Amino acid sequence: MTQKAKGQENLMEKLVSLTKQRGFIFPSSEIYGGFANTWDYGPIGVELKNNVKRKWWRRFVHQRDDIVGIDASILMNPRVWEASGHLENFTDPLVDCKKCRKRFRADHLLAAAGIKPELGRMKETPKELTKCPECGGDLTAVRKFNLMFRTFVGPVEDETSVAYLRPETAQAMFVDFKNVVDSTRTGFPFGIAQVGKAFRNEITPGNFTFRTREFEQMEIEYFIKEKDWRKYFEHWLAEMKSWLDSLGIPQKDIVYREIGKDELAHYSKRTIDIDYKFPFGTDELYGLAYRTDFDLRRHAEKSGVELTFPDPVTGEKFVPHVIEPTWGVDRTVLAVLAAAYTEEEAPTADGGKETRVVLKLPHDLAPYQLAVLPLSKKEPLIAIAKSIAKDCRQQFSVNYDETQSIGRRYRRQDEIGTPYCVTVDFETEKDQAVTVRDRDTMKQERIKSSELIDYFKTKLKF
Ligand code: GAP
Repeated sequence: MTQKAKGQENLMEKLVSLTKQRGFIFPSSEIYGGFANTWDYGPIGVELKNNVKRKWWRRFVHQRDDIVGIDASILMNPRVWEASGHLENFTDPLVDCKKCRKRFRADHLLAAAGIKPELGRMKETPKELTKCPECGGDLTAVRKFNLMFRTFVGPVEDETSVAYLRPETAQAMFVDFKNVVDSTRTGFPFGIAQVGKAFRNEITPGNFTFRTREFEQMEIEYFIKEKDWRKYFEHWLAEMKSWLDSLGIPQKDIVYREIGKDELAHYSKRTIDIDYKFPFGTDELYGLAYRTDFDLRRHAEKSGVELTFPDPVTGEKFVPHVIEPTWGVDRTVLAVLAAAYTEEEAPTADGGKETRVVLKLPHDLAPYQLAVLPLSKKEPLIAIAKSIAKDCRQQFSVNYDETQSIGRRYRRQDEIGTPYCVTVDFETEKDQAVTVRDRDTMKQERIKSSELIDYFKTKLKF
């Protein structure tokens, strides 16, 4: 019987503990007591995260002929943020408790009280927001808190050297628009994609890696003609749905939330938030926005540089409109882990039963596609196993493990989501064959060592 832990109250705790123990995600700077809501991806986690980013790039850049990529600087000319509206508008509504000095996001407090937060209302303090939820003290009036991290460039710290860590990767695609068009033979419509870090001085980070101050985004700015915006909005919605399917995230756990007019970001005419039922509650995983021509127009105005595209038929220049699908990398990793986490009953060697934890990750996301495990530390098993691992490593990502009992090694590989284990035993030298164990069915097959690579080429789904 399969008992899916999803939805169970403590799934989040299980994920935090498993990911630390198995080398996916550690608290950052832990030997110094950690550092508020910062996390490091360990040796297993970085493989999973890189696989997510690689898969995304392959799917949306390499497998399409209408999207090109860039990798822009995190520090940009501060005028970018003036033009984009971030200096003025990239704020969250903040309230302080006058007694305990705790800080809260006013919209989060309203939501927790069952009141639909409308950001438009946040210009004045909503009447429901009077008392601190922690100590009952009086709350201050709502004020706008800008989420951008400020820093200084160069040795002098004054207003002339202020710069910002980018709060989204998107702006580079607008700022580099002319250089991309001038240097690349793009057709139309076309997109510019980027994967990279973004920084936001969140008032209330939390829920593990869900809301952090430093995170990664995968974004596309897809340039279109205004008349086509509905068509391409639907196109990108379908693409995002199919991306979720490819991650093994079931649609039943996804909520497509149309953002109301008064909640839209300053640049958007239509936005759908794609929410996931995370173990701690349903919250934003991705977003899809129709940004109109807001960004290109603003940057053209502020920089004095024309940002247009020639109509492929008439040659007449126009300012493209933009559909922006945006994906958070860290939230993807968290959702993938939550969706893959499974607890089920498994037989033990002595005929009993135990609960096994297995991450049923899609093959192309698994940190290792296979593990090579010699049954004993004796020769010639080790030499044979190392040689098999070396050969397989040319084609697949391989983990080699010769420590502990075979049962504990299978358990570890299940917990990091390795689809196949190859066991080298005492028969191997005689029959030149190994035992291959399937992560999901736990079935074992005897395969000739010389046929292993072809076997995995057909078994592993990419
Ligand atoms: N360019 C549009 C944009 O940045 P957003 O909804 O503010 O839109 C896009 O951010 C995605 O980035 C979110 O859907 C989420 O996946 C991720 N994200 C945003 N803030 C985050 C945070 N503090 N921690 C982790 N991921 C975050």
